[in-house]
Amino acid sequence: MIKILAIESSCDDTSAAVSVDDSVLSNITASQAVHAAYGGVFPEYASRAHLKNILPVIDAAIKKSGLDKTEFDAIAFTKGPGLIGSLHVGVAFAKAFALAFNIPLIEVNHMEAHVMAHFIDEPKPRFPFLCLTVSGGHTQIILVKDYLEMELIGATQDDAAGEAYDKSAKMLGLPYPGGPLMDQQAKNGNPHRFEFPFPAIPKYGFSFSGLKTSILYFLQKETAMNPRFIEENLEDLCASIQYRINSILISKLTKAAKDFKMNEIAIAGGVSANSGLRQMLQEAGEKHGWNTYIPAFEYCTDNAGMIAITAYYKFLRKEFSHQGVEPDVRMDI
Ligand code: KG4
Ligand code: ZN
Repeated sequence: MIKILAIESSCDDTSAAVSVDDSVLSNITASQAVHAAYGGVFPEYASRAHLKNILPVIDAAIKKSGLDKTEFDAIAFTKGPGLIGSLHVGVAFAKAFALAFNIPLIEVNHMEAHVMAHFIDEPKPRFPFLCLTVSGGHTQIILVKDYLEMELIGATQDDAAGEAYDKSAKMLGLPYPGGPLMDQQAKNGNPHRFEFPFPAIPKYGFSFSGLKTSILYFLQKETAMNPRFIEENLEDLCASIQYRINSILISKLTKAAKDFKMNEIAIAGGVSANSGLRQMLQEAGEKHGWNTYIPAFEYCTDNAGMIAITAYYKFLRKEFSHQGVEPDVRMDI
């Protein structure tokens, strides 16, 4: 049995998880409320909050698992991509823990881990499959050939899908992170009330900056005529913006599925928590005969469970890190 303690600290969630082989026994996450006032993640505050949260979170994850801190076979951490100060907290803790208990270190790529979150619970996708990974920092279509063999086939040229959600939510006066709030408001809104543009980007690429600008100009024009425009139309605005972001995502995923002749289709990352995206994926799946996969909610947004499961497969391959390992802010998939 392989027992792993895993840490995720790439952005603004401090998370720890314990796994035994491919079972995640505990996954504890502390989110940081401090960023709401700044309309985005404030990197300096994020690293301070990680420093404050990391021991209680790890302690809680170990307690919940029923294991003892002396029993682990390896300690896993997020090497990148992410915020440098945030990553440092996890890397430094992992090194100290590895030294204290004389166990190997396993570095994990955060984006690879979002994909690997599909191997925590049933049903698990079969290889090869396509995964649309949509988070606050990334929008990628990945061809997954085996557990740790992934090829990036499409990515955003500018903003990520989560950023598109958060920035448009901010224009509507919603606090950070606006994605989940937009999802809530959209539930009672009409997604076809306002029409936003669809970017003309070739192949499996994405772009959300033009959409962001068009939303800004549209809101400026409407609020000049009616200062209460946003509050009077909030639900329809959220539903229409959400519909456009999700339809861009699903149309590119559909194109990739067709070109690569895939019918095992997965989504991952924070934005895969979006109820509109989940529904659109399900409808596309029914239409095209796909088997679709979405991780459980707690494994969609940043979490250490996905780091633990990735580390398990790296442990099987004996892919351990050297003692001088450093964070990598711009790590590729
Ligand atoms: O994967 P994640 O937790 O962190 C990063 O690696 O970035 O993703 C966070 C992103 C944020 O932009 C957040 O607004 C978005 O995921 N998000 C959502 C929803 N839940 C989280 N966006 C739309 N609808 C949601 N329900
Ligand atoms: Zn993430």
